[in-house]
Amino acid sequence: MNRCLGQLRLVQDAVVAGKTVLVRVDYNVPLENGAVTDDGRIRASLPTLEELLRKGVKIVLLTHLGRPKGERVPGLCLDPVAACLQILLDREIHKLDDCVGDKIKQAIDQGSSGEVFMLENLRFHPEEEANNAQFAHSLASLGDVYVNDAFATLHRAHASTLGVTHYLPSYAGMLVQKEINALNHLAKNPARPYVAIIGGKKAKSKLGALRGLLERVDVILIGGGVAFTFMRAKGYQVGDSVVDESLLEKVKEVIRLAHEKRVLVLLPQDVVVSEQVDASAKTVVCATDEIPAGWIGLDIGPETIRSFGEQIALARTVVWAGPMGAFELEQFSAGTREVGEALASGNAFTVVGGGETGAAVTQMGIADRISYISTGGGACLALLEGKALPALDALRG
Ligand code: 3PG
Repeated sequence: MNRCLGQLRLVQDAVVAGKTVLVRVDYNVPLENGAVTDDGRIRASLPTLEELLRKGVKIVLLTHLGRPKGERVPGLCLDPVAACLQILLDREIHKLDDCVGDKIKQAIDQGSSGEVFMLENLRFHPEEEANNAQFAHSLASLGDVYVNDAFATLHRAHASTLGVTHYLPSYAGMLVQKEINALNHLAKNPARPYVAIIGGKKAKSKLGALRGLLERVDVILIGGGVAFTFMRAKGYQVGDSVVDESLLEKVKEVIRLAHEKRVLVLLPQDVVVSEQVDASAKTVVCATDEIPAGWIGLDIGPETIRSFGEQIALARTVVWAGPMGAFELEQFSAGTREVGEALASGNAFTVVGGGETGAAVTQMGIADRISYISTGGGACLALLEGKALPALDALRG
């Protein structure tokens, strides 16, 4: 599939003065005590918003936050996100309390050029993820032009990313352009050895990517929660570590395919375990096949850090998506920290994908020693796997 930027309709070329522009952003950011704790994705959207405001438009922002499954979840309302953007953009953000309906349309219609509105969390409506045509049409009726700058959501065929493009002239925002430019080269021409490091909490969200990466990489290092489903599939006792039993057959298939394609897949040899997951947790390091019943694996151990480090040092390209453990707690942060340090001090072209991993790298203070930090996790991996991104393909022509 040709992902050439030249085929995309670019926001810089859109004739928008005096119009109302719907901008799909990805403000799926971490919150704690009602405040945004990592504003990287919000900052990344500023060039597009500033470009549009310079051209004299009214902006309507569309985003999801978390996975509320079609219901209004008060903790996932966008007020803290709007407050954060208001500071960064230095302009009032009119946060609305829904995303469709007469009241919302009226409020936007009464606004003037230069004003910025933010709709409420799109995923409070089940129609968003179902890519419901009527919902997409209602969203489209709020503006004249559509710009997609939500790189991290390009792999989702939802009403606000795909459906709406059927009703409005649609353009790629500047973050989308920057990400495609940076990652395209890597998708086509990676220097070898090419190492992928896959972690994060859930095996389900990474399994498709792992399968796709088998076609492209030389080595896959698996840590984080994902590793325990792999270990169980290999017949290890993993105590009370989180395992997705429904995936065991698919994981066995990935292991078999890796063998067939001569891709080296390294699982942790040792892990940091605990009986509880909180700041007072006592920890022990044990071999992966000796996790006692009642104990939970929460980080990769020192032997694993060493062997993962050896592979990273030999690599010329490294892609990293997903922390190696529950790094938000000090006791379980060494794996993520040391893997980050190995990337930062090696000679490879390094790409970090995903909100959580990007935030970890920023927290560690090594962001400036990583070649490229993508705002996308799933979207970044899908692009590197060579998969079609439906919401991106809708911006071509
Ligand atoms: C992400 O955080 O990767 C994007 O916002 C997409 O979120 P999703 O996996 O819930 O669709």
